Amino acid sequence: TAYQIAVLPGDGIGPDVTKEAVKVLEALKQQDATFNIEFREFEWGSEYYLKHGHIMPSNGLEQLREFDAILFGAVGDKRVPDEVTIWELIMPIRKNFQQYVNMRPIRRLAGIESPLKNDQPIDFMVFRENAEGEYSNIGGRLYQQQSQEMAIQNTVITKQGVERIAKYAFEYAKKNNKSKVTSATKSNAIIHSMKLWDEVVEAVAKDYGDIELESNFIDALAAYFVMRPESFEVVIASNLFGDILTDLGAALVGGLGVSPSGNINPEGEFPSMFEAIHGSAPDIAGKGIANPIAQIWSAALMLDHLGRTDLSTAIVEAIEQVLQEGKVLTPDLGGNSTTQQVGSAIAEKLKQL
Ligand code: NAI
Ligand code: MG
Repeated sequence: TAYQIAVLPGDGIGPDVTKEAVKVLEALKQQDATFNIEFREFEWGSEYYLKHGHIMPSNGLEQLREFDAILFGAVGDKRVPDEVTIWELIMPIRKNFQQYVNMRPIRRLAGIESPLKNDQPIDFMVFRENAEGEYSNIGGRLYQQQSQEMAIQNTVITKQGVERIAKYAFEYAKKNNKSKVTSATKSNAIIHSMKLWDEVVEAVAKDYGDIELESNFIDALAAYFVMRPESFEVVIASNLFGDILTDLGAALVGGLGVSPSGNINPEGEFPSMFEAIHGSAPDIAGKGIANPIAQIWSAALMLDHLGRTDLSTAIVEAIEQVLQEGKVLTPDLGGNSTTQQVGSAIAEKLKQL
């Protein structure tokens, strides 16, 4: 039977890079008789919103639920408030499908130059809490248009929420023979929510005697990411801290054009969703020059999640070979090739592996 994949290309460069990811998966299917995959595309995004007044149909989540996984492009369009694209599409999927683990590998692929003087390998995994934390819609605005105007935005940190992301990270560390988990905190200043975060992480760490727990304040940790990125193995962070840290991490390993992610529902009760960490990039949308590698690598993470680690590894190898040859690269990596040319080069490489 074939894997059933829901494809949500979205806005801006989302459709361009997603097309290339599907191209690579189709190429794999041609080559490997044991691998079958089928796609169904959903047009939900800003155009859909402008036409229909909502960004997905009211039974949208029910429709997606039937799939084995979701491949998501990006959303964001100047004509539609980000509140709509984020809170009415991405967040409902992440939250309702209990995709509480956002996995974001920070790994410098072969062929990517490091912007750092220190040319050590960079290869670690960030697990960002993806279902609660700072990205809550609890709060409000008071005294609008008055001099004492204020806004309150609440952070939600629950014991269960921290426990499950911490356990996931430690289990990952154990399975992959990692010796250390680093926790991003700020409990010196954020004394309620981040203290609970610390306590729960420490309690979980006790069950993993051989794995060291390093706890760093987020501000210092941001600096350590730049100063000693080679020292990290597994990092766990709250929703906001993880979001910022992973864009920083991405900058250390070639940028947003080559940084993938997975929104994982570990229990497998709901589909997981895979997407490049970048947005719709309005500044380069429509030019055909977006780097598709982040999205192709996200598709590789999806295959790994579906149990085809062999094919996932093959895709990453093909990406690395294209990068190392350095002939077919988009402008963000110093080349002058198009999105489609890079996608095709990777699909071609797969045939030679
Ligand atoms: P962005 O990630 O879209 O772009 C930031 C910078 O990185 C831009 O200069 C862009 O050209 C460059 N860039 C991004 N992806 C690239 C690629 N594949 N190849 C080459 N260069 C690439 O972030 P920005 O500009 O802050 O947000 C634009 C829109 O995207 C907003 O509406 C935002 O809300 C939305 N967004 C959506 C996300 C999602 O769908 N998950 C995630 C982040 C932002
Ligand atoms: Mg982000």
